[in-house]
Amino acid sequence: MTSQARGDAAGSGDRGGQPGASRRPQVLLALTGSVATIKWQEIVRGLTEAGCDVTVMATRAAAHFVAAAADGPAPARVHTDDEEWRAWERKGDPVLHIELRRRADILVFAPLSANTLAKLAHGLCDNLVTAVARAWDPARPVLACPAMNTMMWEHPHTARHLAELAALGYRVLGPVSKPLACGDVGNGAMSEPADVVAETLRLLGSGAPG
Ligand SMILES: Cc1cc2nc3c(=O)[nH]c(=O)nc-3n(C[C@H](O)[C@H](O)[C@H](O)COP(=O)(O)O)c2cc1C
Repeated sequence: MTSQARGDAAGSGDRGGQPGASRRPQVLLALTGSVATIKWQEIVRGLTEAGCDVTVMATRAAAHFVAAAADGPAPARVHTDDEEWRAWERKGDPVLHIELRRRADILVFAPLSANTLAKLAHGLCDNLVTAVARAWDPARPVLACPAMNTMMWEHPHTARHLAELAALGYRVLGPVSKPLACGDVGNGAMSEPADVVAETLRLLGSGAPG
């Protein structure tokens, strides 16, 4: 099976079976409104080469960076809030955030913006990616890879929000220190895509059911 957006809401089933020889690990990648979203294709390709199927969803802000980074055929379709609402017209229609959650073995926020970090910490769910997180099965791992300006990272809100994520059992990777896209130099850059991939695989090995 090739990497693909596995999100046609219609016809999707529950997560069938466990990861193993006959079933590729299912990664649900959430993109949020950090400029680091421009690296999303590297993450998808790394996970695909490692044997995973990757489903991608994006916030409205992240969709801007996805469009900006477009360069040839994308390795996956990107699900959006608009699609979530278009998919449901009447009772019985599939609910996209539930369908995406059902089939995923792991949820990866890479990058995780300050705004979505705050929402996750407080349980807000006003878009596709936060609704998936709010409906998430706590037995399955969540990886959060923050990316933001250094001053945002060092703001007292950040430590409080990260403590909430830790209490929820989320694994937080990074950020790292380097010259940022905004011109500042300091902590706040998303971990390298290869490190995001490696940590995802590690969590799938140790944290995913089965
Ligand atoms: C060019 C640009 C770059 C941005 N980079 C970041 C970033 O790296 N990290 C961050 O937390 N917010 C960043 N923002 C701000 C977020 O996009 C903004 O807070 C947005 O509301 C986040 O929405 P979301 O969390 O729903 O994706 C950036 C905004 C712009 C216009």
